[in-house]
Amino acid sequence: MNATLLAPSTDLRADILALKKERNAVILAHNYQNADIQEIADYVGDSLGLSFRAQETDADVIAFCGVHFMAETAKIVNPSKTVVLPDANAGCSLEDSCQPEDLAAFLEANREKNYYVITYINSSAAVKALSDVICTSGNAVRIVEAAPKDRPILFAPDQNLGAWVSQQTGREMDYWNGNCYIHVEFTRDSIRRIKEEHPEAVVVAHPECTTAVRLLADEVCSTEKMVDFCRNTPAQDIIVVTEANMLHRLRREVPGKNLIPGPTERCACAECRYMKLNTLEKLYRCLRDLEPEVTLDESLRQAAEAPILRMLELSK
Ligand code: 13P
Ligand code: SF4
Repeated sequence: MNATLLAPSTDLRADILALKKERNAVILAHNYQNADIQEIADYVGDSLGLSFRAQETDADVIAFCGVHFMAETAKIVNPSKTVVLPDANAGCSLEDSCQPEDLAAFLEANREKNYYVITYINSSAAVKALSDVICTSGNAVRIVEAAPKDRPILFAPDQNLGAWVSQQTGREMDYWNGNCYIHVEFTRDSIRRIKEEHPEAVVVAHPECTTAVRLLADEVCSTEKMVDFCRNTPAQDIIVVTEANMLHRLRREVPGKNLIPGPTERCACAECRYMKLNTLEKLYRCLRDLEPEVTLDESLRQAAEAPILRMLELSK
């Protein structure tokens, strides 16, 4: 066995890079990962960008630094690869809010409506398999615009993203009752207060925020589009209303601007407890041991793949 696989040295970063080479691995990281993971990743981006990267990669191993549904999506679109996630417990409150049995029961009870089901990527493979098409925050408007006009839409599971897309497209929809536990912690008052402290600042917010918060924003967009917004706005001061690690990505890409984290009622910024479970140590271990590995039953994988491929096709 190779020496790197046996004995980590004191330089974890160097060990990870050596293991990555030995394994022919790629490290994909979401914008909400801790700074040290962002720094070592081959690609850092939003859910949409990460899905494309996972689909395209010719690496043998995908070390996915994000939450479980993201790594699972990578496995669905690139099944011949070994996909590992540093911490198997990195879940998501949105995924938890929509269980496949509940969605299946709802669709069965409302069979006569013949819903066109648009599901946010923050969901399990089993929920994706019940859907017509998947969307991310980066393409949700486009996906809803492309939906058949003669069928009612059920948008699951994020009611806030759904309400924002509905407002953008003018398309009425029924919503699943789910939300992101972090983004709903921003309130109208907490954002008003930080705006008062920085009267020159513009506000960019994620669409998972509530309507009351989105109404205070100059721009509402996915994490990746926040990079463009911050780069292109003439404003120097920008209040960023999303998970706090996004500011690390923004500070790297848009140096020189004053980036201010959006506060909640309880904290000066908001951190996703699931995203934080991944660490450099766990990244090292998952590359060394090739576990926790994301695996899927093949028939479920195929059923979940169809609506994801529809989304990727509509997003090109
Ligand atoms: P993005 O696709 O905009 O990065 O959002 C993912 C997410 O989990 C937001 O909470
Ligand atoms: Fe899920 Fe919210 Fe964490 Fe994003 S920030 S992974 S939506 S819990």
